[in-house]
Formats: sequence, structure tokens, C-alpha cells
Amino acid sequence: MRGSFDHYMLKEIYEQPESLTSTMRGRIKKDEGTGRYEIHLGGVKSRLRDILSSSRIIFVACGSSYHACLAARQVVEELTDVPVSVELASDFNDRKCPLFRSDTCVFVSQSGETKDTLESLSYAKGADAVTVGVVNVVGSEISRQTSCGIHLNAGSEIGVASTKAYTSQIVALVMFALQLSHDRHSKDARRQEILAALHEMPYQIESSIKRIDEVTLRLAKSLEQSASILLSGRGFQFATCLEGALKIKEVSYTHTEGIHSGELKHGPLALIDDHMPVIFFAASDNTKGHIQSALQQVLARRSSGVFVIVCTEDDPDMLKYRGNMCELVEVPKTADCLQSIISILPMQLLSYHLAVYRGHNVDQPRHLAKSVTV
Ligand code: F6R
Repeated sequence: MRGSFDHYMLKEIYEQPESLTSTMRGRIKKDEGTGRYEIHLGGVKSRLRDILSSSRIIFVACGSSYHACLAARQVVEELTDVPVSVELASDFNDRKCPLFRSDTCVFVSQSGETKDTLESLSYAKGADAVTVGVVNVVGSEISRQTSCGIHLNAGSEIGVASTKAYTSQIVALVMFALQLSHDRHSKDARRQEILAALHEMPYQIESSIKRIDEVTLRLAKSLEQSASILLSGRGFQFATCLEGALKIKEVSYTHTEGIHSGELKHGPLALIDDHMPVIFFAASDNTKGHIQSALQQVLARRSSGVFVIVCTEDDPDMLKYRGNMCELVEVPKTADCLQSIISILPMQLLSYHLAVYRGHNVDQPRHLAKSVTV
């Protein structure tokens, strides 16, 4: 089952070109005559009108699935013009937040069995909200109890740490936004840009993953003794820094924090010294100016230590940092709203290698279960 891989986690990280292809199979089609792409998500078509007339869309999830919702929120808002909020299922349940039949609630879960997410679903059903499930496990409780939905089709995920399900969740949610906006003429050019980038993505990952793996293996060696790591990003990469921090802490047991770059000067900068490893996510998008000023503020407060920038390939604004106390991890460039799918790869691999160096049980980290049903 693991083939030539030492662990399921590594196998599942390497499987992402195939899992993403499966998530998109039969749903994104290219018209060879016109060169245009079309989207067809059969599982939500019957409720499209209800969802589009909703006063808001609320994503509800836990852990990595919650981060996938954060990664997709902006593009769902952009393409649908419907306000989107993202809720941790446990907090949503604690607050019993006001909910109406004019709301659409989207429940995102790999297993489809997570207790907190299921509890939120039954609360939403009680309020008569439209319920949508985005799940990997076919026949799971969430897929059966929602009124419509999207299956990830990512294949079974054995490693406790979510990797391929996370990237498929982002793709599924972006496809959801593309389906909801399918007849919006004003969004056509943007939709075609995203669809073409989605089509290209499995090839981009396939051709770069080995190189990214080699870079992160070296990086893991330099971080092996670190007690703490700080990750920072903003915009579409805020989700990447939260998800990267979760991956590193859960499999390598290293204290890691993901901090919005705009928040650094509101407190966390005090953590910066020569001993604190820092990883920045610098995408080639409209956040770049802000990211550059944040990383300069951090660099100015140190004279040594591990400092990493995850950026897109051959970005001249980032190449200038190479060597100047910085290590660059370059990843293929894609559409801004999809960059988080590629930028998480080095963090998945880094967490894996750190865990292996430290001799941890990578596929079954201590105290954790694959499906949190209690
Ligand atoms: C982290 C991880 C967990 C799950 C969370 C929700 O790598 O796997 O944080 O994402 O327990 O699980 P699902 O998606 O099954 O609802």
C-alpha cells in the first residue's frame, strides 16, 4: 500500500498531482474548439439558485479543513459577491451564532464524521439554512445529512496529518465558487484564468515536487534542534502559514505559530531574536509590498539564524534576498487564489522530514486520531 514510500504521509504528499486530478475529473472540461473551460459540479446544481440568493455563506470546519476554508474564502467572495465567513465548528457551536433560512452553511470535512462539524450541521438544519457538504469519505454522516455537496475524490488518506485532502478541499471550494458564478459575464475573464490555472496545476506539482523535497530536507536538518518556529503570511497565504504551523506541530512536536504578517508589529515582533527561525510566505500578488516591509522589519532585528522565504520561481523582488541571511524556497507560480495549494507543499515536506529526523511516528502522531468523533 505504501509502495516505495517509508510512510503514508510522504506517499500522500507525492500523490497530490493524482488526487487533484481526481478532484477535478469530469468537472472541469476544456472545449478544444474555443479553448474555453467549463465547470460542472453535479452535486450542487439543484441548489445553486438557493445558494446564490443567500444573504451570506458560512464555512464551518475544524483543523486543516478550517484552513482550507480560509484559503478559499476570498475567491468565493470575489466570484459570487456574497459575504463569506469562516467558522471553527467548536466555536460556532459554543456561540450558537444567529442563523437563518436565508443562510448557506458549507461543512468541510475530510472524514465527514467530525463531531463538532456534525453538531454544527444539525444546528444549521434546525435553522432551515441551506446545507452543503464538502467531504472526502463517500457515505459519511456529513455527506448523507447535507442537502447537496461535493465529494473530494482525493482517495483514502491514511496518515493522520491531512495533506492531499487539504489541497483537494481548496480546489473543491474554488470549483464551488466557479460553479456559483458560471453565468456571470463580468467574471468571465477571471473565471477562465482560474480554470486554466487549475488545469495546469497537477503538472506544475509533478514537475517540482522532487526539487522542493530536496530543499526542505536540507531545511529540516537546519531546524532539527529548534524549539520554536514562526511562520508568517497574509492574503491568500495567511491560510498557508496557519496550515504549515499545524503540520509542523502535529507531526514534529515543535512549537510553531502561524501569524498574519499585518499582526507582527502588534506584539509578535517581540519574539524575534537570532534564535527564532522564521518562515515567510511571499506570493507574487497584491500583498507583496506589505510582505516585503514585514520581512525587512524582521530581518532588521536579527543578525543570524534560519530565515526562509517561500516565494514563486524567479521572482526578482525575492531573489535579491538570497544569501543575505535568507534561504529561498521557490515554488511554481499559479493564479493568486490557487497559490496556497502549491505553497503548502514545502511545509508538508518540512514537517515530514523534521518528524523523521526526530524519530517520531509520522503517520500516527501521539494523542491524535484520524477522525475526531468524540
Ligand atoms: C490536521 C488534521 C486535522 C483535521 C481535523 C478535521 O492535519 O488532519 O486538523 O483536519 O481533525 O477533520 P475532518 O476534515 O475529517 O473533519
